[in-house]
Amino acid sequence: MDKIVIINGPNLNLLGKREINIYGNESFDSFLLKLEKKYPNISFHYFQSNIEGEIVTALQKYGFLKNTGIILNPAAYTHTSIAIADAVKAIKTPVVEVHISNITNREKYRHISYISPFCKGSIVGFGLNGYQLAVESFLK
Ligand code: DQA
Repeated sequence: MDKIVIINGPNLNLLGKREINIYGNESFDSFLLKLEKKYPNISFHYFQSNIEGEIVTALQKYGFLKNTGIILNPAAYTHTSIAIADAVKAIKTPVVEVHISNITNREKYRHISYISPFCKGSIVGFGLNGYQLAVESFLK
């Protein structure tokens, strides 16, 4: 695996400022810098969008690359988007789903993920460290 594409969905651009009791006080940019330092041999590509169709387009764009893993946190679209689920199903590059919070012990509407059935696996509830665990899962 020499390339990892991280795709974050809506409101994750506000990490560090948003509901810090749930999502923590670190921005994603600061976290990503640390991740890049920890894995100097991996080329990371980061994409965040608040727009559902842009996430579908990104999955289509990166979803046929070889030696690549995709880490996807579709945020609220996890619980609503058949379009993102279909895109994950359609592509070839393996996808690991990450959620910062434990979606299974929050509001009922967060218990369903339309995305998980098409992912290699899902990591929930470990804060930003979940992204590092996802990277590790690609290296094993
Ligand atoms: C989230 C969980 C979602 O339910 C929520 O809408 C988010 C973030 C998480 O990372 O914990 O925006 O995906």
